[in-house]
Amino acid sequence: MTGPDVLVLGGGSGGYATAFRAAQLGLTVTLVEQDKVGGTCLHRGCIPTKALLHAAEVADTIAHASAVGIKATMVGVDLDAVHGYKDGIVDRLYKGLHGLVRSHRIELVQGVGRYVGGTSVEVGGRTITGTSLVLATGSQVQSIPGLDIGGRILTSDEALTYPTLPERVVVLGGGVIGVEFASIWRSLGAEVAVIEALPRLVAAEDEWSSKQLTRAFRKRGIDVRTGTRFARATQDENTVTVTTEAGDVLEADVLLVAVGRGPRTGATGFADNGIELDERGFVAVDDRLRTSVSGVYAVGDIVRGPQLAHRGFQHGLFVADEIAGSHPTLVADHNIPRVVYCNPEVASVGLTEAQAREQYSDISTTVYDLAGNGKSQILGTAGGVKLIRVTDGPVVGVHIVGERVGESIGEAQLVVNWEAFPDEVAALVHAHPTQGEAFGEAHLALAGRPLHAHG
Ligand code: NAI
Repeated sequence: MTGPDVLVLGGGSGGYATAFRAAQLGLTVTLVEQDKVGGTCLHRGCIPTKALLHAAEVADTIAHASAVGIKATMVGVDLDAVHGYKDGIVDRLYKGLHGLVRSHRIELVQGVGRYVGGTSVEVGGRTITGTSLVLATGSQVQSIPGLDIGGRILTSDEALTYPTLPERVVVLGGGVIGVEFASIWRSLGAEVAVIEALPRLVAAEDEWSSKQLTRAFRKRGIDVRTGTRFARATQDENTVTVTTEAGDVLEADVLLVAVGRGPRTGATGFADNGIELDERGFVAVDDRLRTSVSGVYAVGDIVRGPQLAHRGFQHGLFVADEIAGSHPTLVADHNIPRVVYCNPEVASVGLTEAQAREQYSDISTTVYDLAGNGKSQILGTAGGVKLIRVTDGPVVGVHIVGERVGESIGEAQLVVNWEAFPDEVAALVHAHPTQGEAFGEAHLALAGRPLHAHG
């Protein structure tokens, strides 16, 4: 029996993007998936969390209704209905995705696949050999040594289906998952504390963004404890008790552990059969996403870098095109847009100021405050747009903080990836009044001709 042109192990964002693109290019494809096509993003990540964040936004809107003269009272949260709303969205998208697998004539093999060398995978006693093999087994939640998940100690996996609304929450880790859940629970009425070992929240972002977010979180009554190391947690029937290294004790209904996600490369047969892994277990790849074994590629979260679904999509499209011989280009990790969907949102693309200073001898920056943006004032959001340019050169970093600003990052990634100069962007017209207009105003300011900006 001949095998497929492309065998894909793992049907998450990276894996199914590879499969769809390869099929569109006329290649035969087999996709091996142990659970449901769609992976972490659709079933345990991006989509369900953003549904919860939208429910949280509705709660915030009711809470602040009187500020715009609307009388509304929050009667309560029907958590079963919130979960129903979230699950309905996931189900609809899952059905759509399944339909796409069928319409692309992809052979879907359900089961746990194990890499057995060369370009072969064993699944349910059957060995499948592709002309090319693409590894896309994704990532999984991590904890820290000695902190066992269970009961009142949750990861994002359990938090997404937790049956009751906690009144007091401690979030361990002020990274992306930590701040998104802190934001959800706070909006739904809980007392929330965030413990973060590093000196700032979302430490991978520009320092300015971290400051804006911390200020907004504190204003929302979230107890942000940066520079604080976790020591231990104990739980009984009613409470989880968290102790920091400095000896502070916090009691809560649940503890969310959000200290990072690791690559799912452990029990896959990769290392045993010649796939080189790095010291943290990520698959080692070259700049064409080729692994150490000929004909085997890796995509998505098992490749070290930002663990983002849209990076997985990009990897998948790239590898399928590469296999088909069309010499695609891979966007550098730092030029992939990032959005943290808490309230307020933190969106960015390109370099942080610190990274730009390391890379270029002369840079200039500007911050356009959303106080000058009509639509942001209508929405009642604080924040701003920070731009970083190489002096007399292109824009190399965009950082935006504020409610709903994630939608503005689409334009920002075009500017950064097309290496536009501020003057070129400033010459174009942004619709008034939109939040996107703030992006245009920031470029006007950086080009030396501000319109609605002080200083
Ligand atoms: P993360 O790496 O973003 O943040 C983990 C945080 O925990 C770090 O700031 C770290 O300093 C802190 N930490 C670790 N050990 C600690 C300790 N003992 N005491 C106190 N703090 C400690 O990881 P996170 O938030 O779990 O997210 C995992 C991945 O999922 C990330 O790569 C993220 O980009 C991705 N993701 C992306 C989303 C988005 O794009 N909107 C949404 C959710 C996840």
